[in-house]
Amino acid sequence: THQWRGLIEEYRDRLPVTATTPVVSLLEGGTPLVPAQVLSERTGCEVYLKVEGANPTGSFKDRGMTMAISKAKEAGAQAVICASTGNTSASAAAYAVRAGMVCAVLVPQGKIALGKMGQALIHGAKILQVDGNFDDCLTLARDLSDKFPVALVNSVNPVRIEGQKTASFEIVDMLGDAPDVHVLPVGNAGNITAYWKGYKEYAADGLATRTPRMWGFQASGSAPIVDGAPVLKPQTIATAIRIGNPASWDYALAARDESGGLIDKVTDRQILSAYRLLASQEGVFVEPASASSVAGLLQAHERGLVDPGQRIVCTVTGNGLKDPDWAVAGAPQPTVVPVDATAAAERLGLA
Ligand code: F0G
Repeated sequence: THQWRGLIEEYRDRLPVTATTPVVSLLEGGTPLVPAQVLSERTGCEVYLKVEGANPTGSFKDRGMTMAISKAKEAGAQAVICASTGNTSASAAAYAVRAGMVCAVLVPQGKIALGKMGQALIHGAKILQVDGNFDDCLTLARDLSDKFPVALVNSVNPVRIEGQKTASFEIVDMLGDAPDVHVLPVGNAGNITAYWKGYKEYAADGLATRTPRMWGFQASGSAPIVDGAPVLKPQTIATAIRIGNPASWDYALAARDESGGLIDKVTDRQILSAYRLLASQEGVFVEPASASSVAGLLQAHERGLVDPGQRIVCTVTGNGLKDPDWAVAGAPQPTVVPVDATAAAERLGLA
């Protein structure tokens, strides 16, 4: 039997590690590339979902974190810090446990999903709720890591991008070549930067014949890249991407322009509709921010931007269990029945 060894071991020769780097891993990566039947039918394309919620802490952040924590350990760091809308902090907290390090996290007050807060807590992170938004948290985290002995593990740390680029390798390894289009949510813009780097590296080394067009989608109340200016008070129900001044803004523009792609925005209503479609039609439960890739694909299709017959991969970045509020909201209460087959069958419409 062969178990996936984690992305550092699987792609060691393409990552900045040496034989002496201490590998801190939860065997992240190797996530499912699931054919999306309903989305394929609706768009006339071959659509796949890269299900990143299947990573150990439930989001794509584990790809960057195995690298960031391994390199921090190699450098002798005893403490790490991050700003986060929730997933980065959950991941940093878990990997810090594996590394025997202290983890500090800065989160925007009241704006992180309960499941993510629970992860940071149970893994023993030191949590500060900042009176501000994610952008303020990142400013503070950078300042702390400049002035105090604590390593920054946000995606402004280039080794995070190195780890995250492996998702593109997995997709090409699975499909035999790059897709025509790759669609993903955009928040701080590290992930679109990482995927584009991965696709370019594989093409440059002859492991893919081409690169895909990169399509990124922001939430319309937090769409600084689309609107062309930082958003001071970003708003969206997709708290993971509630970011007004993305750190990797320029890299996201480069990914868009070099790939002939686009960065656009989708409304919260479109995000929630894609969120429900993914769960009810494809059987894939993601968190709201993750559904913005699929919402974007459907919007592009409605606008006539999707040529039929293309191969399209949508990354769904985080697990639905992290933020189940939107699954429960507005849903009818389950009916209470006695322990009686006839009564239960009646309620189920079976009798
Ligand atoms: N989807 C999810 C579920 C996320 O948690 C994030 C970012 C993104 C998409 C956007 O990715 O920032 O690389 O463009 N979450 C960060 C965090 C900000 O703190 O967990 P990006």
